[in-house]
Amino acid sequence: MEEKILVLDFGGQYNQLIARRVREQNVYAEIRAYHNITVSEIQAAGYRGIIFTGGPNSVYDAASPHFDPQILNLGIPVLGICYGDQLMAWMAGGTVSSAESSSEYGKTTLRCKPCALFRDVPETSICWMSHTDFVSHAPAGFAVVATTNKCPCAAMADESRKLYGVQFHPEVTHTEWGKQMLHNFLYDICGCRGLWRMENFAAESIAKYRQSLAGKKVLCALSGGVDSAVAAVLLHKAIGDNLTCVFVDHGLLRKDEGDWVESIFRGQFGMRLIRANVQERFLKKLEGVTEPERKRKIIGEEFIRVFEEEARKLGKVDVLVQGTIYPDVIESGAGSASTIKSHHNVGGLPEVMDFEQIVEPLRDLFKDEVRRVGLELGIPEALVFRQPFPGPGLAVRIIGQITFDKLEILRQADWIFRQELEKDPVRRVASQYFAVLTDTRSVGVMGDARTYGYTVALRCVTTDDFMTVDWTRIPFDVLERASSRITGEIPGINRVVYDITSKPPATVEWE
Ligand code: XMP
Repeated sequence: MEEKILVLDFGGQYNQLIARRVREQNVYAEIRAYHNITVSEIQAAGYRGIIFTGGPNSVYDAASPHFDPQILNLGIPVLGICYGDQLMAWMAGGTVSSAESSSEYGKTTLRCKPCALFRDVPETSICWMSHTDFVSHAPAGFAVVATTNKCPCAAMADESRKLYGVQFHPEVTHTEWGKQMLHNFLYDICGCRGLWRMENFAAESIAKYRQSLAGKKVLCALSGGVDSAVAAVLLHKAIGDNLTCVFVDHGLLRKDEGDWVESIFRGQFGMRLIRANVQERFLKKLEGVTEPERKRKIIGEEFIRVFEEEARKLGKVDVLVQGTIYPDVIESGAGSASTIKSHHNVGGLPEVMDFEQIVEPLRDLFKDEVRRVGLELGIPEALVFRQPFPGPGLAVRIIGQITFDKLEILRQADWIFRQELEKDPVRRVASQYFAVLTDTRSVGVMGDARTYGYTVALRCVTTDDFMTVDWTRIPFDVLERASSRITGEIPGINRVVYDITSKPPATVEWE
């Protein structure tokens, strides 16, 4: 990578956002946890600039993240944000203070003075603050270049050494001129030229793999999700029929989904695709199982077994392709300290399988970048912008025991709900929506007869990251149409409810 920026992660909530904002300006950014990289590694990697992220700590806590102050002497420009700003001030001999009365949260008026970081930024503008500690005295050699009513040093700069610190968050859209400030840092201060382009990514990757995987037998597991789809199509463009994809159809997919996946990869792209139709096998394994985590475990294990069996039939395979993306890499520990919920890894492939090489073509990309590559490769929008769907599929949307009949009922209800919702403009704010088959049965009346049927719950959430979600305010008439169609068209359902719980305290899925 010819031109890259290091985002040194001190545990801030916006660290991934910082890297994305940098990449949006066509500069490649890499996130590394502060404890996973040394000053000499930073020097050797040839970064054009370094951004210290925010973090929840105070520099004076012994246990809080610190870094080797030599980093400021490398001659590489640094931008410290929030905690990163305080840390830089503290490392360079300034003073950081803490006072509840000085804490600022939310939109704040910023007054800046001329400096390279604020080129073309108005003297007065709005920035986004979120801090208790603050830099009370800038270190020697640093000038105060911005203030707010409460913050005597909202930004500081040692222009001769290209060291900058800001107490506010330029990466957050509420900071009106944040984009300009980052642009100034990347282009004027670090001297970047903007070489990171998604248009080139697909073409360069295809050329790279065409060469490095020539003559190799390559295998890819397709789930129907965006990441594995983009990885597979990219590899197919590089090596054609030397790539075989295995699609494990466990029968827990939504209506017509298995056929849809097959039609795209086999039909549209002409890829070698093995569809393992193992619906009955999964149902048998799940017979009588009601506990959600057991369902997940059984499905995860069986998925691997099927995949292994199919792979074995192909004889020797040299390379496995995986749809790992950058947030997976960061979350699995290479970057920050947080870990993925174990249940989100279902469908991950075994390490025990014997491959010469694992190829992860999307390892450096964020989700929105993966989508852009997908569109570039000609993958249909419906797949590229597909909402998340859990690996264990409808098994975690049927409360209690899973049977073929219940799966059919749920597929139908889910399809009706999605159809009705997609007719309404509310779909634009709906991040994920689906039906759940509860195990509650209740009394109803149809014609003159008493019924005793199942209750379907509808779920629709709005979120940016799925870590926290809000329930979507769906118009009543959409709910009404979905409810009357579900009860009218599906025998066995006589009640429909809408889930109005956010996460936390609930989760998106019911199991
Ligand atoms: P929860 O239910 O944890 O879901 O709030 C957050 C997001 O993760 C998806 N999800 C899963 N994805 N395997 C997956 O691949 C799973 O077992 C799983 N469980 C939940 C969920 O659909 C939502 O988008």
